[in-house]
Amino acid sequence: MTGIISSDGEKRLVLLTGRAHPDLATSVATHLGIDLLPTTTYEFANGEIYTRFGESVRGADTFVLQSHSSPINTWIMEQLLMVDALKRASAKTITVVAPFYGYARQDKKHRGREPISARLMADLFKTAGADRLMSVDLHAAQIQGFFDGPVDHLWAMPILTEYVRSRVDTSNVTVVSPDAGRIRVAEQWAAKLGGGPLAFVHKTRDIRSPNKTVANRVVGDVEGRSCVLVDDLIDTAGTIAGAVRVLLEAGAKDVIVAATHGVLSDPAVDRLQNCGAREVVITDTLPIAEDRRFPQLTVLSIAPLIARAIREVFDDGSVTSLFDGQA
Ligand code: R5P
Repeated sequence: MTGIISSDGEKRLVLLTGRAHPDLATSVATHLGIDLLPTTTYEFANGEIYTRFGESVRGADTFVLQSHSSPINTWIMEQLLMVDALKRASAKTITVVAPFYGYARQDKKHRGREPISARLMADLFKTAGADRLMSVDLHAAQIQGFFDGPVDHLWAMPILTEYVRSRVDTSNVTVVSPDAGRIRVAEQWAAKLGGGPLAFVHKTRDIRSPNKTVANRVVGDVEGRSCVLVDDLIDTAGTIAGAVRVLLEAGAKDVIVAATHGVLSDPAVDRLQNCGAREVVITDTLPIAEDRRFPQLTVLSIAPLIARAIREVFDDGSVTSLFDGQA
């Protein structure tokens, strides 16, 4: 039988995946030392998704991984159907592993008559049968409270900071937040990179149009300094490219961009290649196709972290222990 059996023979860990990011799922399985549960999935002529597992999941602790990449609605629906199928096949527990949790940006109403899609997502997974959610760097940590059950909120920061430390002179680094809302995250980054000063970009947004932002000016000491610009996600790269421009205009020596999720919708690749950043560092929570990779891009693997977190959950261990007791 596919999976891991606990040492007392009482429990079975099963890892399943949808079709959004097979490379990541395979890599997580390799780190766990198991195979993915064989699954058949296809579409009917009208687009309805069909899915069926090739083995019994009765009594198993199941982890169903799907990253909400494009086409986002299809992949979310596919994961919901897999959760429903697990529930109806008598899985003992069902953990939704969404390395990138889609629809998270709409986590509050800015104006009347808008949805709160991050909450709706949590409700959908709960209704489908999920007992637990696991995700990496939620757009806002309070989304954890939208799901009525345990949420394992993993941080990519240790992976990103370890790499970035090897790429900069830590005695001359300013960590920069691309907007005022992420200062707290920038503070944590600065502590990891030697305790240098912080800066942020004053960004304004046109709330009537998607992905429309203007980087106005930088607040903080960046002249002659290596800047590390940190964000949770890069979608069209309007935010990041605008921030890099403002930093270089203010006299920054160079800029490294670090973000957890590379959504990279058009025209992100073009913007990132030409914005003047020395390097752009992301993780592979989302698939990055070969034709979207460019010379300054570094993609770090998130699979070891997800595999360790899954193992801690299965063993009734501690996910917090993976983050020096801080997560
Ligand atoms: C904003 O709150 C987010 O953290 C990102 O900065 C933003 O969503 C990125 O979008 P884009 O790359 O399209 O500017």
